[in-house]
This record gives sequence, C-alpha cells and structure tokens, in this order.
Amino acid sequence: MHFRTENRPWALITGASSGFGEEFARQYASQGCSLVLVARRKDRLESLASSLRSKHQVEVIVEGVDLSDLESVRQLHQRVRERGITIDVLINNAGYGVHGGFQEAGLNDALGMVQLDIASLTAVTHLFAADMLARRSGKILLVSSLLAHVAVESFAVYAAAKAYVLRFGEALHREMKRDGITVTTLCPGLSDTGFAEAAQIQVSPLLKLLMMKPQPVVKSGIRALNAGRISVVPGLPNKFMALFIWASPRWLHQAVFAKVMSPKTKSNLQGGKAS
Ligand SMILES: NC(=O)c1ccc[n+]([C@@H]2O[C@H](COP(=O)([O-])OP(=O)(O)OC[C@H]3O[C@@H](n4cnc5c(N)ncnc54)[C@H](OP(=O)(O)O)[C@@H]3O)[C@@H](O)[C@H]2O)c1
Repeated sequence: MHFRTENRPWALITGASSGFGEEFARQYASQGCSLVLVARRKDRLESLASSLRSKHQVEVIVEGVDLSDLESVRQLHQRVRERGITIDVLINNAGYGVHGGFQEAGLNDALGMVQLDIASLTAVTHLFAADMLARRSGKILLVSSLLAHVAVESFAVYAAAKAYVLRFGEALHREMKRDGITVTTLCPGLSDTGFAEAAQIQVSPLLKLLMMKPQPVVKSGIRALNAGRISVVPGLPNKFMALFIWASPRWLHQAVFAKVMSPKTKSNLQGGKAS
C-alpha cells in the first residue's frame, strides 16, 4: 500500500515492539507521522505496523534489528539513508535491565545491558544526530528512568546505565541546541509495561496504584520534546519522588528505593530481567 508522505515528518522509534515504544508509535502515527519501527521481535512490529497503516493512513517501515550489535546499528542507519528517509524525530527507547545482586547475576547480563542501554543508545544517537546536524533541525528523545537519580541496591548496573543516559542527554541538550536540535530525556517511574513482572519486583497495592500507564508517560515525553525541555519526570508521584531524592540524604532515599524495588523473594535475586 502506498500513502502520500510528502512533507510528513519521519519518527524512528527503537524498542517499538512493546511498552513505551509501542505507545510512542501509536501517538506519533495519530499525529500523521511516518514511522520506522525498530526492535528484535519483527512479528510484533509487523502487526503494529499494519494496524497503524489502516487506522491512520501513515507509512510505516519495520526494521527487525538487535541493537546490541553495533554493526547492525550502522547497517540500520545506512538502510534508512538508502531509502532516502530523513529522520526528524528519534525516540531512543529500547532498554534492557537486569535485577539482582551484582555478583549473583551473570557478567554477561551486566555487560549486555551496558551494551544496549549505553553503547547502542550512544551509537544510534551519534549516527542519526549527524544527519540532523547537517540539516540543522531535528528532535531526539532519550528514555532514561527515575532510577537515574538514585543508586539502587539490586539494580546497580541498570540505575547506573540510566544515570549515564540522563547526564548524556542533558549535556547534548546544551551542545546541540545552538545547532537547532532538541534533545530531551524522559525519566519515567515504575510503569505498567510488564517491567515489574519481568524484574520480579514485589508490587505492593500502593505501588500498583502509583504505577503509570504508558499513554500519559509517552504523552508527557512528547510534550516535553516539543517544548524543547531538557528533561521530564512524568506524573506527580514521580515528580514528588524526584524531589524527595534531591532533598533527602543518600542513606535515606537509597534505603527507601531498596525497599520499594525489592524482589519477590531473596531467591529471586538471581534471575529477574527487565527492560
Ligand atoms: N516500564 C518501566 O517501569 C520503566 C521505567 C523507567 C524506564 N523504563 C525504560 O523504558 C524503556 C522501554 O521499556 P518498557 O518499559 O517499554 O519495556 P518493554 O515493554 O519490555 O520494552 C522494551 C523494548 O526494548 C526492545 N529491546 C530490548 N532489547 C533489544 C535489543 N537488543 N535490540 C532491539 N530492541 C530491543 C524490546 O523489543 P524486542 O524484545 O522485540 O527486541 C522492547 O520493544 C527502557 O529503556 C526502560 O529501561 C521503563
């Protein structure tokens, strides 16, 4: 099927096969954007793409890519260029987390997460930002986490990786602003994307109540990006937590987060994966 796509902006979304990435795709499609959807599970991307094409009459390209392989990231960028597509909005969202004691979890898990959340995110940003810099226009959203603000027991590597994303994004925001590019970092709190389930986090009734749905998180990220903000923490309870982290001593907020993000049982500390 072919759609009229002249003058329509293109958004490239990583991690679009579920959770926030899928919701970014839905919201940008509803605004009439053409989309490049990237993740490993191509079947899920294909079915999302066909539903968005028929609902919003937008062009959607599916790219089944393992972003933790940097050569694949380069090839993705090359394919997009060869198609003559100009990416106006980059949503750097794909993320992978490992929950558990640092020593108990395997080294491969820890390094795999560093590879995706840090190295790949940096490579994707570098390649697509170069094109934006040449045109002196573009928007980049980096998905970090509320945990970027705090060191979290049993989430040591994940929280540190997200701290990298936040600091990286904040620095790029200043660096690229003068060249006409907006860089915004989104820092969601625990949200209803299957994250807690995969991470085997004990979700108390209170925590469940505070968990945000993907729709308002994504809406808040897009709004902040369009407003040219440096970063955003979506939702009042998360904003309150960010304020609490800023205003309280480390021993206190670290203890609170260790409790809130506790695994279901001690024996589960070894294997929980989250994105
Ligand atoms: N939900 C939360 O509570 C929460 C809170 C703060 C921050 N975040 C961040 O939000 C982002 C999205 O997570 P989510 O909550 O939406 O979880 P999700 O539903 O599990 O989505 C993660 C996405 O990343 C993709 N992905 C994972 N590894 C990949 C790889 N090697 N190559 C390409 N794509 C890969 C997955 O697709 P495939 O498996 O198909 O490849 C999936 O589309 C992550 O960066 C996460 O750290 C989430």
